[in-house]
Amino acid sequence: MVRVLFICLGNICRSPMAEAMFRDLVRKEGLEAVIKMDSAGTGDWHIGHPPHEGTREILKKNQISYKGLKARKVTSDDLSYDYIIGMDVENIKNIKKVGSIPSHVKVKRLLDFVEDKQEKNVPDPYYSGNFEEVYELVKEGTEKLLEEIKNNLKAKGEIE
Ligand code: 4NP
Repeated sequence: MVRVLFICLGNICRSPMAEAMFRDLVRKEGLEAVIKMDSAGTGDWHIGHPPHEGTREILKKNQISYKGLKARKVTSDDLSYDYIIGMDVENIKNIKKVGSIPSHVKVKRLLDFVEDKQEKNVPDPYYSGNFEEVYELVKEGTEKLLEEIKNNLKAKGEIE
């Protein structure tokens, strides 16, 4: 089993989009029993809120479910995930302040998984309003992340 946590600042725009899109990919591959995912924010302003309207709209347009998603703040318990995936460098700085992260945990930005990208931060659409751009970046990032996880699971003999 592999556990993946997506993080951003508010947990209403980027990380719930990544969670929903990654869940959709994992389901399509029939891997939901082996790959688990969640998302959280480093800030507390939107605790309990559903995803931002822009995130809901773009997910709906692409027939990806966001059912049940509700913002929450990261806690020290989250530091035990196998992958902690930030959307930008600030998210990574902030998660490191939550507590000490065990050495086996992979703490990376989503776009670190996309080799040919110069810009590794997913821009915050809360300010830009550009949810289309974020959708395209998150799509690339989650696809590459799933490839890496599948390769690791295959190497360990956990999947075929
Ligand atoms: P997110 O976007 O980190 O992608 O969810 C934001 C949402 C809310 C705020 C900032 C960024 N805010 O300042 O409330």
